[in-house]
Amino acid sequence: MKTARIVRGSPALLRLLLPLLLSGTVRIDGYRPVIIVHGIFDGPKQFKTLSLYITKTHPGTEVSVIDLYDNLASLRPLWRQVQDFSQAFDSIVRKAPEGVHLLCFSQGGLICRALLSVASHHNVHTFVSLSAPQAGQYGDTDYLKWLFPDYVKRTLFRICYSSMGQKLSFCDYWNDPHHRYRYLQSNTFLPMLNGERPHINMKAWRENFLRIKKLVLIGGPDDGVITPWQSSHFGFYDVNENIVEMRNQEVSGRSDTFGLKALEARGDVELCVHSGVKHVQWHSNHTVFTSFHIGPKLWPV
Ligand SMILES: *[C@@H]1O[C@H](CO)[C@@H](O)[C@H](O)[C@H]1NC(C)=O
Repeated sequence: MKTARIVRGSPALLRLLLPLLLSGTVRIDGYRPVIIVHGIFDGPKQFKTLSLYITKTHPGTEVSVIDLYDNLASLRPLWRQVQDFSQAFDSIVRKAPEGVHLLCFSQGGLICRALLSVASHHNVHTFVSLSAPQAGQYGDTDYLKWLFPDYVKRTLFRICYSSMGQKLSFCDYWNDPHHRYRYLQSNTFLPMLNGERPHINMKAWRENFLRIKKLVLIGGPDDGVITPWQSSHFGFYDVNENIVEMRNQEVSGRSDTFGLKALEARGDVELCVHSGVKHVQWHSNHTVFTSFHIGPKLWPV
C-alpha cells in the first residue's frame, strides 16, 4: 500500500524536482570534485594511487590531476606556474558550482596557496596541503645535492637569491634564516605570498585565501625532504635554527599578513602529524589516506 502511494506520487514529485535537477541546484552525484596539484619532479603518473583511493571511497568523484609542468618542467619559476595552473583550475571549477577540494603535494602546496590568493572568486572548500614547504625550505637534502652539487645549504643563498636563481622554482621558496635581508629583498615569491614584503595586493590576497572553508596541513618528522619538516605546518627556523611554530611567527601569528591566524581563529585549520612516512610516500600511503581523513570526513556530501 505504502509503495503504491509512492509510485503514484512520484511523477508529481519528479515534476517538482526536474527544474531543480536541470538547473544544477540539486546535486545528484554528491561529492565535490577533487583537483590535485603535483610536486617537484613528478606529475599525474605519481597520483594514480591516490586518485584510486578517492574514487573507491567516494564512487563517482571527479578527480583531476592537473597535467602541467611535470617532472623537470616543475623547476620553472613558480609565479609562471601559478598562472598556468590557475587557468587549468578555472576551467575545472567553472563546471563545479558547488565548489571543489584542492589537494596539493609538496611544491604544489605553494602553487596552490598562491593560486588561492590571486583567484578572487574561487570556490575551494577544503585545501589539503600534503607535506608542502609552506614556510620555505632550508636543508641539505638529496634534491639539493642533485640540483646544485657544488653547494650546501649554507652557501646556496648566493645562487638562489640572484635573478638567475629565482628562475628556478626551488629557489622561490628557499628561506635561509641566516640571510633574512637577502631573502626579503631578492626572493620574488615566498615573501610576497606571505606578505613579508608588503605589496598593494596584500589585503585582496588575504581575503581570497580566507574564502576556503578548511585548511588541512599534513606533514611528519620522517619526511626527509621538507626541511625543517615543520614547514609543512608553517613552522620554521629562527636565526639559531630553532623551530618557531606557526603561532609564534611574525607573519602567520602576530601580524597575520596572509590570513592563517584568522583561519585558525575560525577553527578551520587542522594540523596532522604522522611519523614513518617518507616524502614520496605521502600520496600513496593508504594509512595516511584513511587516518588523515583526506577522504571521508573532510568531504561531506
Ligand atoms: C604508511 O604510514 C604509516 C603511518 O600511518 C607508517 O607507519 C608507514 O611506515 C607508512 N608506510 C610507508 C610505506 O610509507
